[in-house]
Amino acid sequence: MDGIVASASSEIQGAGAGTQPRPAPPCTFVVFGGGGDLTKRLLVPAIYNLACAGLLDDGFSIVAVDWAELSSEILRAQFHDALQDFVARRGTSATVLRDDIWQWLDTRVTYLRGSFEEAETYDRLAQRVAGGNAVFYLAVAARFFGPIVDHLGTSRLTDEANGVYRRVVVEKPFGHDLQSARELNSRLLGTLRERQIYRIDHYLGKETVQNIMALRFSNGFFEPLWNRQNIDHVQITAAETVGVEKRGRFYEGTGALRDMVPNHLMQLLAMTAMEAPVSFDADAVRDEKSKVLKAIHSLMPEDVVRGQYTAGTLGGAPVRGYRDEPDVAPDSRTETYVAMKLNIDNWRWAGVPFYLRTGKRLAIRKTEIAIHFRHAPYALFRDTPVERLTPNIMIMHIQPTEGVTMQFGAKIPGPTVRLGGVRMKFDYSEWFSEGPSTGYETLIYDCMTGDATLFQRADNIEAGWRAVQPVLDWCDRPDEAPLCSYAAGSAGPVEADALLARDGRHWLGLTA
Ligand code: BG6
Repeated sequence: MDGIVASASSEIQGAGAGTQPRPAPPCTFVVFGGGGDLTKRLLVPAIYNLACAGLLDDGFSIVAVDWAELSSEILRAQFHDALQDFVARRGTSATVLRDDIWQWLDTRVTYLRGSFEEAETYDRLAQRVAGGNAVFYLAVAARFFGPIVDHLGTSRLTDEANGVYRRVVVEKPFGHDLQSARELNSRLLGTLRERQIYRIDHYLGKETVQNIMALRFSNGFFEPLWNRQNIDHVQITAAETVGVEKRGRFYEGTGALRDMVPNHLMQLLAMTAMEAPVSFDADAVRDEKSKVLKAIHSLMPEDVVRGQYTAGTLGGAPVRGYRDEPDVAPDSRTETYVAMKLNIDNWRWAGVPFYLRTGKRLAIRKTEIAIHFRHAPYALFRDTPVERLTPNIMIMHIQPTEGVTMQFGAKIPGPTVRLGGVRMKFDYSEWFSEGPSTGYETLIYDCMTGDATLFQRADNIEAGWRAVQPVLDWCDRPDEAPLCSYAAGSAGPVEADALLARDGRHWLGLTA
């Protein structure tokens, strides 16, 4: 396919620049699970990036709470190593840890060893937090969410008096079905107000996911086309090459559907399909997301394909099948791939299918949203077979490449009228100089400044689970829920191709 690359202009970029953000107010950032992997791999690097950008106040500090036998000195050394790895890995500018920033952070980290389920831990924590602002970040297994929040409440650490804020960030998984998500919501809301709860979906921290709203609502030419009159269907793909790695035990009880769909994929769908909010105020945005998620038709089993990877080849190397992964049952029926067709029952989208697919050990890593527009009327090209007219597709690339591609037809130069497909591509990295981030910078900064737009409200979470609950019920009856297989390194089960083929459509290829 011929390529047309959009040219970059820093003048345009400058004209669109917004106001510079200010440092967040002083805050004690308390991380439950502070000695764990998430903290080292993502939270500390994100905090480092915020410090480099001058977005943390001198009154910022970190208290890491965990049960492991550590000291503040050891933890600081571990954070230092994790940061060195992080800056070395990003492979662009600034591959060396900034010493001034590390010195600043180093003095602000302390460790508190204690059980998440004993009141004494919270008494000691109260002394560290004193009377100031605090964020309590729950980077722990989901079974601790309820107990930690109960203890925070009992020890009055969640009380907001004299203008201070107390906020709780809850990681995923938020429940394992609709019922448990509701129960968790009501448990948390027994202690906290909704505005104190920040339910994270790390997809919302991705620049390109946030860009979906900017693209749709700050440009005049997309929105008039964004409806059932012009759009044929939408494909949302989150393909991964990784397997379950060391998470076999967790994944066995979770599977691709619970792990990726009610949260990440539903957020992509909501961003793509929601109506324009009346403002970028958190509740205005979340109201619109809830509305569209609630409008999803109840899923039927025939609209869902579940698959599990068998041994195959990836990047030229052999990889084992899911059932041979550590901590996975040899007869496991857990799906590592799921594809589905959803319909949204509202004025804008009635009759426009949304096809979603996600899986592990697929041919390539790629997350994207492809908007397939309807064909132009054929009057002028009567003699051109339908399949030879280039479909008009707008692809929003979320990762690993970030940008937007438009695919359309153009006349191939020459004396006769022949049509060829061309692509016009906007690549984030060509236009903007920002270095890569963890995706958690915005989320942490927003939490400290009280902007909940990119966090999920109780009703958003429940709407995501409600949409997939019929499939979960169905999967609980293994005799009825077939599990297809696909070879590691392939594009997924052939049954997923059949899901679209029966509507006369096909998936975009899993190629770079
Ligand atoms: C997590 C899932 O929420 O998202 C993982 O638990 C998955 O299984 C990950 O690999 C994907 O995130 P990303 O940012 O790599 O697309």
